[in-house]
Amino acid sequence: MCLHHAADLGEWRDAARSLLLAGMPPEEVEWSRSDADLFGRAPTEVPPPGQNATPPSVPRRFLDLAEAVVCHSDPGRFSLLYRTLWRLQDDPHLIGFLPDPDMQRLHRMEKSVRRDCHKMTAFVRFREIAGRSGDRRRFVAWFEPDHHVVARTAPFFAKRFADMDWMILTPKGSAGLENGQLALSEKPAARPDLSDETEGLWRTYYASIFNPARLKVKAMQAEMPKKYWKNLPEASLIPALVAGAGQRAADMVHRQRELAAPAFHDRLAARRSDTREAAQTEAAGVIATDLDELRRHAAACTRCPLHCNATRTVFGEGPPRADLMVVGEQPGDIEDLTGRPFTGPAGQLLDRTLAELGIERKKLWLTNAVKHFKFVARGKKRLHQSPNRGDIDHCRWWLKREIELVRPKLILALGATAVESLTGKRASVTPLRGQLIDTLFGVRALVTWHPAYLLRLPDPTRAAAAAELFRHDIGKASEMVSTGEMVPPAGIEPATFGLQNRCSTS
Ligand code: URA
Repeated sequence: MCLHHAADLGEWRDAARSLLLAGMPPEEVEWSRSDADLFGRAPTEVPPPGQNATPPSVPRRFLDLAEAVVCHSDPGRFSLLYRTLWRLQDDPHLIGFLPDPDMQRLHRMEKSVRRDCHKMTAFVRFREIAGRSGDRRRFVAWFEPDHHVVARTAPFFAKRFADMDWMILTPKGSAGLENGQLALSEKPAARPDLSDETEGLWRTYYASIFNPARLKVKAMQAEMPKKYWKNLPEASLIPALVAGAGQRAADMVHRQRELAAPAFHDRLAARRSDTREAAQTEAAGVIATDLDELRRHAAACTRCPLHCNATRTVFGEGPPRADLMVVGEQPGDIEDLTGRPFTGPAGQLLDRTLAELGIERKKLWLTNAVKHFKFVARGKKRLHQSPNRGDIDHCRWWLKREIELVRPKLILALGATAVESLTGKRASVTPLRGQLIDTLFGVRALVTWHPAYLLRLPDPTRAAAAAELFRHDIGKASEMVSTGEMVPPAGIEPATFGLQNRCSTS
């Protein structure tokens, strides 16, 4: 029986069904493959169905196995499948009988094909080539699979790289997407001469995501066997990264220790002197006349329970007379350790956005509605917990005093907690985003997303759209203060705030 395609389940299934209906025992069938012109040949004559032939029955699991096994490069795959199909007609339980040598071989072949597909999806590296068609850039990749998996993996690439034109060339055929149309060929391709300037970019990216503390050389070699290295731009980095991993991991541990949270009793001892000083000044009726003093008082705040678990108060930072004040929610894990606001992942996103807009972070006063990190411990991890109304109310006193001393022209409120702290009212951010709102403090605030929200959005399209609005809002706030659109009310009267001093030092 001559098949024209290397890995076409439909073609093999039609041939096998005809042979089965004709009652042809497996030992009398010789399976072969024609590499000749696919369109010029007539299919092999199939014997007519025998009398009383009943349509073959096939367990679903067999079809799943066959779908993978036809892609295997073993020339005996078609006869093995036919023999199993033949035996299944008399013994349907064979499909679940794993000690059977034919079943074992089929399972091994299926596993090998699946692994090859996985490797192909992981290790294909596209290089850009000249000649866009419209707004679609063009890319080519070379890959050397063990089996005939090009057609099987092509839909994955078509979905993932739908917005570009590409070709994947392999010695076992090619796949290409042009203007959204997927085309396949079984003709072996020749290895093209590929390299482009994005290789440097890819290497930089790989080196930056390489985590020396997670390095397991054996697992890495199993996951990325050496035979794939020659087509991976990043492979040349691996020996040096592996060699330097021990030292880098030790450095990371060292740095982590420096950042680690001190034990509770050490924290209390460190706070005691601050607390005493703060109590004395407060007893004398003085409520911090400058930001440094306020920072020291805040460092000793123990009135609400959040101080018990947090490492330290994370007070605002920036120039004492900043025009724009940015109010976030509360410090996160990293901020709690560094003692500075917006130094973790959300802060990095904020920094990137500011840099894109040409706004200098050091010109802004950055602070939070709540000054202590609220979390629950899960093993070694500290999982962020949103502050509740009580936490926000307790901490508002510090924010109020910060606003009084900095006297910003405008506040940028990041997320719902900031809005609640500034207005005293719980509100959803979506309808307020991009709007100016009145605050309890006589300064107006422009509302936007919290950067952590952007980092959590699972859908990349939605995340990109939200990031664009976030950028737009920050740009707008910055423009408003520089054009003087936001004039602060003359003299902020603390009495007009009408807030209770519920968070104080003791
Ligand atoms: N999120 C915030 O709201 N503030 C920070 O300082 C860090 C993360």
